[in-house]
Amino acid sequence: MENERGSWGSNIGFLLAAIGSAVGLGNIWGFPYKMGKSGGFTFLIVYLLLALFVGFTIMMAELALGRKTGTGPIGAYHAVSSRFKWIGWLAVFSPFIIMSFYSVLGGYCIEYMALNLSNLAFRNPAIAGGDLFGAMLTNPWGCVVYTLLFMIICYLINRGGISGGIEKFNNVGMPALFVMLVIIIIKSLSMPGAVEGLKFMFVPGYAVAGGFIDSAPSLGTVISTAGGQMFFSLSLAMGAMITYGSYLDKKENLVKNSGIIVIADTTVAIMAGIAVIPAAVAYGIQQGIPVGKIALGGPSLLFVTLQNVFNSMGSVGALFGVIFYLLVLIAAISSAISLVEVIATFFMDRATQQGKKPNRPKTVLIVCLAIMVEATLVAVDGLGSNGVWVPGQSLGIAGWNDCWLDFMDMLSEGLAMPLGALLMSIMIGWEIQPKSMLDEIHSGCGTGIDGFFALCMKLLAPLGMLLILSGQIASFFGAGATSIGYIAGIVVCVVGLAAALTSPKKKAALKK
Ligand code: PHE
Repeated sequence: MENERGSWGSNIGFLLAAIGSAVGLGNIWGFPYKMGKSGGFTFLIVYLLLALFVGFTIMMAELALGRKTGTGPIGAYHAVSSRFKWIGWLAVFSPFIIMSFYSVLGGYCIEYMALNLSNLAFRNPAIAGGDLFGAMLTNPWGCVVYTLLFMIICYLINRGGISGGIEKFNNVGMPALFVMLVIIIIKSLSMPGAVEGLKFMFVPGYAVAGGFIDSAPSLGTVISTAGGQMFFSLSLAMGAMITYGSYLDKKENLVKNSGIIVIADTTVAIMAGIAVIPAAVAYGIQQGIPVGKIALGGPSLLFVTLQNVFNSMGSVGALFGVIFYLLVLIAAISSAISLVEVIATFFMDRATQQGKKPNRPKTVLIVCLAIMVEATLVAVDGLGSNGVWVPGQSLGIAGWNDCWLDFMDMLSEGLAMPLGALLMSIMIGWEIQPKSMLDEIHSGCGTGIDGFFALCMKLLAPLGMLLILSGQIASFFGAGATSIGYIAGIVVCVVGLAAALTSPKKKAALKK
């Protein structure tokens, strides 16, 4: 069945690669901070429920869709749907846009790792994280060079193919990442004051009491924050799991595999939180910074707060710095290569369809070069430090247009991703029917999941996605956009359902 497309060498190789895709920057700088800010344990419960009823089901559906059709997202949607053929384009557009900034952030990690390495080797005097980050951002061509380095690494891995490149990298990278994470956790928890950080992450209401935020978010906000985070973190609605699934053997169990990916990703997110938040909070307390003022999320957590934490550790700090930034770099690479693979697979499958022999090295090279072009824009912009023009800045609605990174993030994570996921759940739930995916799922495991899967695909996933889409619109365009978000989401749902239900009978391709 796999013919010349290649395939995973083993199920564990596939699992590590899929977990590698899921575990990324989102786990390290997104999850812990959002969890702390949005109610600690309460957030975790909401996140887990969403992960079970929406994330786990859509994961199964994406893997099944990829494996059933044996192609990436564009081919896959074309093969099964008559009304939603075009969603596949969203699922290739998003990875391309995400890579515009993911690669730049990966470049920052290389730069910080190199810096800590040189501090370690030459005992350089430590530079405060804020100064360092500022100097880096305002040196645009330096950032371009590091971004290029990051893209060269991705190119070399993706060029090696599914089992010869991606699987090989993750087979070593994922276990290494885990060990490094444990080392950082031990160090972090041994810092005096670390427990305050744990409280921020886990104790409901502590974020408000501790002055981190002014008031507790509403349940609706918690649900949409958790849902948006879960989707991004599980690499869903980006074509990544469809693509990885298309290289998976028919005999593998999709239910078990999806469960393992979701559990591993969530575990790493919680572990990453325990690794970074206590250290950052302990450092702040040590310095007499009011806890509410310490940056605990986003780029400033990684590149300002944590660099300060390592600086404050004395001579061993640089060693922990190297370990930490290497860990983040591996997480970034393993996610980035899944995004590059979505785009590369599309072009290679298309070549095959046209009767040509796909040329992986050439395709991957072109994809990486194209990403490099858009990434240069984001790198030169330096998170808005260098006064580069960003579309929509004159509109005065802040949040999505502060810098090119935010703009690209809004396009992909804010719009294309939730929209694609909402329509996908409607397509599976109502147009082609859950049964068509269940047939594929059954090829590697028994029954028992059918009722749950159908319920989730028909009702819970579209409903969850509706909340997530409106939440994302609100978070990117300001709270004032909440009602616009809901209205837009409901319109998409109604139109989508109408399209699904009036569609001509399933395509012949499905029957094969
Ligand atoms: N899951 C990755 C993260 O948490 C990001 C990503 C999204 C990677 C989609 C691939 C596909 O950072």
